[in-house]
Order: sequence, then C-alpha cells, then structure tokens
Amino acid sequence: MDISDREFDLLKEYVLRESGIDIAEEKRYLFTTRLSDLLVGEGIMTFFDFYSVLVSGTRSYLVDQLLALMTTHESGFFRDRHPYRVFTDTVLPETAKRRAERARFLPPRLRILSAGCSFGQEPYSIALCVKRWLPTQSVFSEKDITIIGTDISALTIKRAKRGEFSDLELGKQLSSRERQDYFSRNGETWQLCEEIRNMVTFQQVNLLKPFDNLGKFDVVFCRNVIIYFSIEGRKTVVGHLRRVLEPEGTLFLGSAESLYTISNDFTSRAVEQTTYYTPS
Ligand SMILES: C[S@@+](CC[C@H](N)C(=O)[O-])C[C@H]1O[C@@H](n2cnc3c(N)ncnc32)[C@H](O)[C@@H]1O
Repeated sequence: MDISDREFDLLKEYVLRESGIDIAEEKRYLFTTRLSDLLVGEGIMTFFDFYSVLVSGTRSYLVDQLLALMTTHESGFFRDRHPYRVFTDTVLPETAKRRAERARFLPPRLRILSAGCSFGQEPYSIALCVKRWLPTQSVFSEKDITIIGTDISALTIKRAKRGEFSDLELGKQLSSRERQDYFSRNGETWQLCEEIRNMVTFQQVNLLKPFDNLGKFDVVFCRNVIIYFSIEGRKTVVGHLRRVLEPEGTLFLGSAESLYTISNDFTSRAVEQTTYYTPS
C-alpha cells in the first residue's frame, strides 16, 4: 500500500501529537512496511481512511496498535551494563542512606520508575540489582521497595507482565550464570522467574501527559525513549519526570541522550561512563 505526501504528513502529525515520537521523512517507509497488514486486516483501503478512522475514535484500539507498531521496542537486560553498576554501587546505597536517616520518622521506602520500559527488561534488571543489594544492608526489605514499569502501549505492557523473552529480547549483557539463576527455557523463549516478576508492577502511561498520580520516585530510568521525540516532546516529558522526582532523586537517561538544551532544572553527575541527573 502506498502513502502519499499528504497522508504521510497527517499520520506523522498524529503520531507526534499522541506520543511525542517524531518520524523523520527518511523513515516514511515505516508506515508502509509496518502498517499495511494492519490496514488490510481492518478492511481499510488507504492511509487517509486510516487517519479518518483514528481521529473519529470509532476503533480506539487502533491507536494503541499504531503506536506499538511505529515505536521501537529495542531493549535488553542490563542494557549498556555501566548504568546498572552505578545504580547498584552508588545511587542505590546513597539513596537508601538518605531514606534510612529519615526512617526514624517515616517507614523506609524506595520508589523506582522505569518510564518507557518496553517489554520489561529495564524494570526487571532494576529488580535484579535490588534483589542482590538487599542482603548487603539491614534497613530495607523487599516490601519497602516499589518498582514500576510504564509504557505508552497497552500491548507492550501486557507482554512485559508475562516476563517472557526471545534470545534477542534478553540482549547480550546477561551472563550465563544470570540466565541460569533467574530464567527457565520455555520452548523458543526464556521465562523470567516469578520471584523477580513479582517485584515489578506495570502501568500504561503516556509520558506526554502528566502522571503525578504515580506518586514521587527516588530513582527514574527513562532510557532510550526521548531520543525518538521532537525537541518540544522531550521538554514536555522531562518536565513531567522532574515533577515526579523526589528533590534529591536521580534520573538516568540513555547513553546517547542528554538534557542539553532540554532542561536547566537538573545538575549532572558523571561516574565513569554514566551520567545521571539530580534536580537542581
Ligand atoms: C527503545 S524502547 C526503550 C526501552 C528501555 N527503556 C531501554 O532503554 O532499553 C522505547 C519505549 O518507549 C515507549 N514509548 C514511546 N513513546 C512513549 C510515550 N509517549 N510514553 C511512554 N512510553 C513511550 C515505546 O513504546 C518503547 O517501548
């Protein structure tokens, strides 16, 4: 199915408005390669008709399918490894210490958000770090730690909850020991153990819209998400993330992402290869 200039402009604007994702002209082919089967299955003959159905709201499930198909879900356990080392060795102990000092008056708690979590590899990696860190200290137990994974797509969240991954989706960073300890082979896929799955809850959240209802977080991972957004979209999302971060909270972005020209509300700190941000 071909896409005309006008159809491309309409759909590009629609995706930008709904998700913040900016599909460049050179990625125009993504509409035809990824959406043609969906349109045929829905009995929709042209991209203009598809656009009309989307804005009419008569088949609202198509919005989720469109966004799930047009976004990249590329991820993996312990993606880039080094941010997870910094999280475990520096951010987690420092945050826990601050929290424990206040625990004389309040019950200790630690809240961690993985925003734009794809099929769950990121929040589950966080859970694995937390699991291994817990026995090294005496203040926090598992019930004091909240880990929430969010994504714009309901289909993606459904997948994440299952905790089932192909070899490709596991990524290259997991050691064979980690694979052996936390996963079981299930035909073509790897099933993450229940113990780690139970440490994470998932919710569908569009980062373009405020999500203060999730509460405040000590640590936010939003890695490899805003890189696909327009500058305006990045500013909006970072503003929303700032609002849910505790005053001394920590924000991790992807290795190719930064807040340069996006926000002046954070101070950056570099530990080895990892840069992370705290509200200024
Ligand atoms: C490339 S994946 C990154 C996954 C993981 N954070 C990582 O670094 O491996 C980007 C994810 O962001 C999600 N996403 C895109 N736009 C979003 C939005 N407006 N709100 C929430 N999630 C969004 C996509 O559905 C996708 O699962």
